[in-house]
Amino acid sequence: MNNDNKSTRRGFVKQTSLLAGGLIAAPLLSKANYFSGADDVIKVALIGCGGRGTGAARQALLSKQNVKLVAMADAFRDRLDSCYKTLTSSELSELKNKVDVPEERKFVGFEGYQKAIALADVVILATPPGFRPIHFEEAVKQNKHIFMEKPVATDPAGVQKVLAIAEIAKQKKLNVVVGLQRHYENSYRELFKRKELIGDITSAQAWWNNDGVWVKKRQEGQTEMEYQMRNWYYFVWLCGDHITEQHIHNIDVINWFKGGYPVKAQGMGGREVRKGKDYGEIFDHHYVEFTYADGSILNSQCRHIPGTMSKVDELLIGTKGRIQANAANIVDNKGKVLYQFDKKADKTDPYQNEHDELFAAIAKGEYKFADAENGAKSTMTSILGRMATYSGQIVEWDKAINSGLDLHPEKYAWDAMPKVMPNAEGLYAVATPGKTRYA
Ligand SMILES: NC(=O)c1ccc[n+]([C@@H]2O[C@H](COP(=O)([O-])OP(=O)(O)OC[C@H]3O[C@@H](n4cnc5c(N)ncnc54)[C@H](O)[C@@H]3O)[C@@H](O)[C@H]2O)c1
Repeated sequence: MNNDNKSTRRGFVKQTSLLAGGLIAAPLLSKANYFSGADDVIKVALIGCGGRGTGAARQALLSKQNVKLVAMADAFRDRLDSCYKTLTSSELSELKNKVDVPEERKFVGFEGYQKAIALADVVILATPPGFRPIHFEEAVKQNKHIFMEKPVATDPAGVQKVLAIAEIAKQKKLNVVVGLQRHYENSYRELFKRKELIGDITSAQAWWNNDGVWVKKRQEGQTEMEYQMRNWYYFVWLCGDHITEQHIHNIDVINWFKGGYPVKAQGMGGREVRKGKDYGEIFDHHYVEFTYADGSILNSQCRHIPGTMSKVDELLIGTKGRIQANAANIVDNKGKVLYQFDKKADKTDPYQNEHDELFAAIAKGEYKFADAENGAKSTMTSILGRMATYSGQIVEWDKAINSGLDLHPEKYAWDAMPKVMPNAEGLYAVATPGKTRYA
């Protein structure tokens, strides 16, 4: 590939970095910046080589462009190795010749992300969400296009950082897709186009109720930092609690269809079955009433309790009817179906769509995706809910987002102390509504 040829996609990336350095100011995108051909490889770095990172890397490589995975970074060597093994296994033969990550482009530890990002045109950020703000900041600083998983932060300080960096990404015309994949799912897109059929949305409901997720037990010899990093789901600074980590998907759909974000929240929650040393500090259920600026309400519930009713869905109620997300239809107030999306006929996968659309835009030198702002505000909505359930108070958006709450340790190192530490029995403090302050 000729790096000096400004008509290549690399030319587009190069020009973007000149803008970043303030060296050119004119709008960058023109036909002259379009991707030149099949030999122009789009290089990808994967940061966070766990379950989702492995899946997202595969989807990136399966997009119709000439994409190669060239660098990987993970906090832990064994996680990186098992991801590499999966991506190069004979079962994924469709990825043959697309994974080009020799030993010198594998990076382990807290700092590896910087080096991996430097080697790529596009980065996939798929660590636990606590690290997203710093990884996003670095990727934008290095002028990369980005696919980043949701949530994009775990505390208001992180949300504020992502919002600030999102603005810089926009100025630099860096494509950013956030893994809130319902935005890339055809049934949701078709329902959204027809949302006027239900009139004004007056209330909504959202559910993420199921059994819960994995637990990683403490191993002998682990430092506290290593233990929390391995069992990250149960620590708020890393995960955000499950209202943020999973239920964000459903809350985000309501924000999307409402075209805004709640102004306040109040709710209740606690832990009925998550008791004992293995479960860190998070709740196992939250029920939140979010209020939007027009007075409309979202009732949101999320629960991780085995043996209880499972339901992951969204419902929007309007003056003229209802949008039912799982059923993929719109009905009027008498139950008459006004629109039905045919899910069986839709052969596309929203996770794949995210990458197909992102890489197609990058290959053409198009600037099409700026998901970070919404990703940050939907993350903040879920954090607002958590602040409400932890405190038992009415929490206002403006106060919450400006609270300065920062749950992160002073430094990231295996011997560093997280802010949350266990007591002598190995138990962590859990929020007590009525006593815990929300910030
Ligand atoms: N969109 C979706 O439907 C969906 C589905 C699953 C997960 N996710 C999101 O993807 C992210 C990852 O989840 P997962 O299920 O893959 O978790 P995981 O534990 O399987 O993977 C996370 C990986 O990141 C690594 N890691 C942790 N800190 C790191 C750091 N500072 N630098 C580099 N690597 C680091 C871990 O060692 C691990 O290998 C989460 O934000 C999660 O919410 C999204």
